[in-house]
Amino acid sequence: MTRYLVTGGAGFIGSNFIRFLMQRYDQTVQITNLDKLTYAGNLENLTDIEQRSNYRFIKGDICDSRLVAQIMPDIDVVVNFAAESHVDRSIGQPDDFIKTDVYGAFVLLEAARKNKIKKFIQISTDEVYGSIINGSFKETDALEPSSPYSASKAGADRLAFSYYVTYKLPVIITRCSNNYGPWQYPEKLIPLFVTNALEDKSLPIYGDGLNVRDWIYVLDHCAAVDFLIEHGLDGQVYNIGAGNELTNLQITDTILKMLNKPQSLKTFVQDRLGHDRRYSVDTAKIRSLGWRPAFAFDQAIASTIVWYQENRAWWTRLKTGEYLAFYKQNYRQDL
Ligand code: NAD
Ligand code: DAU
Repeated sequence: MTRYLVTGGAGFIGSNFIRFLMQRYDQTVQITNLDKLTYAGNLENLTDIEQRSNYRFIKGDICDSRLVAQIMPDIDVVVNFAAESHVDRSIGQPDDFIKTDVYGAFVLLEAARKNKIKKFIQISTDEVYGSIINGSFKETDALEPSSPYSASKAGADRLAFSYYVTYKLPVIITRCSNNYGPWQYPEKLIPLFVTNALEDKSLPIYGDGLNVRDWIYVLDHCAAVDFLIEHGLDGQVYNIGAGNELTNLQITDTILKMLNKPQSLKTFVQDRLGHDRRYSVDTAKIRSLGWRPAFAFDQAIASTIVWYQENRAWWTRLKTGEYLAFYKQNYRQDL
């Protein structure tokens, strides 16, 4: 029996990861989901899981050292997904990014150290490298984060590494590229554009639309993290990506074509401040251990778009801000 602490498990990737673990390991895992339920935390992402005897949800903040100290003695593996994750919000209001992404990671690392945790996975991001025009970043390249979000993630990334070097805490750091898939909050490019298109609203393309991101299906990210828990080496950083580099205009056209919506929905708007032009990671290191992405972009983006078509109630409640009231009334009066 492996006892996991998944932080941020009510968010997009965390909830997919919990479902992934449950499907893969069934009763041989015990999962504690610690999530503050910010605007991005959504327990509706886990309604199929929440009654399982080997799952428990704790509403709480990773910055709360007393709470984290109570949880940690019963844990073998920590996977820290909890973060403020949206670049645009970090430009407008960076405070919570510094608190959660840096200080929160510190609180978890301290508790993990005191409890001699067997594995600590710090979920970092490819954004810590900054932008690259040609070629791809290797794990040994310098970090040049350019937004308050990516700078706070870089802080946590290096803090986690310092706990390996200084205290021999068995830390692994992952730097994944842009995820897409079901249950992604509709503020990020793909779910925002898909849901706007479904509502015949305009798609706000920043700048010239030629910024490039490398897209990975969320279950490939989950599988990579699970793979590294078993096969990764302590103290190492691993890039994760699927090699699907596309401009934002290419993503927009794909969405419009699949939904049979007009080009006139495209709207060019003011660029994001400090907008990174291109992200690209070299994934030779994790591939040399035997991991490969399993999902082809064309099929996975098509099934993702269908998921948003079929789960209109889920994203409509988020877009109108009614999610928590609905959830409390229908599922958990205690929250
Ligand atoms: P998300 O915003 O969908 O989810 C974040 C979750 O963390 C939410 O459930 C939120 O309630 C929770 N949370 C926020 N502050 C908290 C706190 N102080 N204490 C406890 N819980 C808190 O984010 P996501 O897209 O699922 O990203 C998850 C992680 O993966 C983040 O660390 C992000 O930096 C990293 N990442 C994301 C991507 C991507 O493309 N989305 C790519 C690479 C890495
Ligand atoms: O690279 C990994 C990162 O990917 C993660 O660490 C972040 O948590 C995640 O949010 C994501 O960051 P991006 O900034 O790349 O994702 P976002 O979906 O916000 O934007 C993707 C691209 O689309 C980017 O070039 C900005 C552009 N964009 C985005 C939005 C929301 C638009 O043109 N219009 C928009 O409305």
